[in-house]
Amino acid sequence: MSIALCPGSFDPVTFGHLDIIERSSRQFDDVIVAVIRNPQKAQSLFTLDERQQMLRDVTAHLPNIQIEFFKGLLVDFARDHGANAIVKGLRAVSDFDYELQMAQMNQRLSGIETFFISTSPQHSFLSSSLVREVARFGGDVSSMVPPLVAKRLNERFLEGER
Ligand code: PNS
Repeated sequence: MSIALCPGSFDPVTFGHLDIIERSSRQFDDVIVAVIRNPQKAQSLFTLDERQQMLRDVTAHLPNIQIEFFKGLLVDFARDHGANAIVKGLRAVSDFDYELQMAQMNQRLSGIETFFISTSPQHSFLSSSLVREVARFGGDVSSMVPPLVAKRLNERFLEGER
């Protein structure tokens, strides 16, 4: 049985993430979306539970997806869950250096293989951080994230103004 991980921060999930998750779900028996608990990044906009709920909602149409949290090394999480693949989306050449380095490190640590999927061109400029920034200043993110995520972003930034 093939089990793949789609790891990330998902703060919040974008159409770019969803594209990779959907395409992975067609290639593997099961896909675990692995949401990191302790990102090396500034404070998150959404809590882990909020990110998990949004991911659940936007992947509800896919039968073979689980949403889980992890902390520590991704390869330890992969081993504990019997995963034999990591799937990453590559948006542009600028993603490649770091992704290659992580893939090689994960391969050295555990033997797990990383598979790269080329991001669909209409999503190649998307990142959660840019989406947060656009939404923070009132920009229209409706073509970048699913409707329920756009709603949560608007609510979050309106809350901040009160
Ligand atoms: O969405 P992000 O923040 O770009 O995702 C990065 C993530 C979570 C995939 C990456 O930071 C990761 O795998 N972290 C887990 C820690 C780990 O295993 N580090 C060694 C990787 S070489």
